[in-house]
Amino acid sequence: MNNNNRVIVSLDFPAAKQALELCQKLDPTSCKLKVGKELFTREGPALIEKFIKMDFDIFLDLKYHDIPNTVASACRVAADLGVWMLNVHASGGRSMMEAARDALEKSTHKPLLIAVTVLTSINDNDIHELAITNTVKEQVILLAKLAKSSGLDGVVCSAMEATDLSLQLGKEFCLVTPGIRPADSSKDDQQRVMTPTEAINAGSHYLVIGRPITRAEDPLAALNAINADINSAE
Ligand code: C5P
Repeated sequence: MNNNNRVIVSLDFPAAKQALELCQKLDPTSCKLKVGKELFTREGPALIEKFIKMDFDIFLDLKYHDIPNTVASACRVAADLGVWMLNVHASGGRSMMEAARDALEKSTHKPLLIAVTVLTSINDNDIHELAITNTVKEQVILLAKLAKSSGLDGVVCSAMEATDLSLQLGKEFCLVTPGIRPADSSKDDQQRVMTPTEAINAGSHYLVIGRPITRAEDPLAALNAINADINSAE
């Protein structure tokens, strides 16, 4: 893997203008981009096409969760847009994940298909209210195993879970981790963070990083410093 290509910059902006201004300062050989629900809902596929024309790889973070046919159709359309990675909720179950995987098999340019296990906003009390008797940690492992056996490429997880998941699911199973902060950076509203080096050493393949880059005075310099940190870990 290109060691300068493990950072996915999270474009948490309300509209295209700010996102494009930032991306013009970044280098597509040094990072990928994550577009989530807010930006996509406002700007739609046209913005994704612009980023792809600028040579960026796109993680379309829409966390699909619906009946298998609907999710499969949405995944097929996302693949047609040319995105590099997309995701679904593992709690949609095996038949939903298999339908998504099968839909992508037929695409000429197959994106990585990643599962969300348990949202990090959910704690053990919340999960018990859902009548799930597992702890969050047990449920994360269960859903990650289900995602793997349904043919998915990996999961989004906290870097704190990466070591366990990597041991249980193997080093090839792709781990995408948010909650990353360089040592000298503000934690913002993140509770439990890891530095880029710690996350890579824990088994992360890709690091989702927003504000430490998007709010930096010099975003490219911030990205370059993070890539240098990652390279020193390997
Ligand atoms: O700015 P920051 O680096 O905290 O942004 C992290 C990004 O990753 C945000 O888009 C956030 O919604 C997302 N994310 C997260 N924790 C999760 C899943 C996604 O921070 N468990």
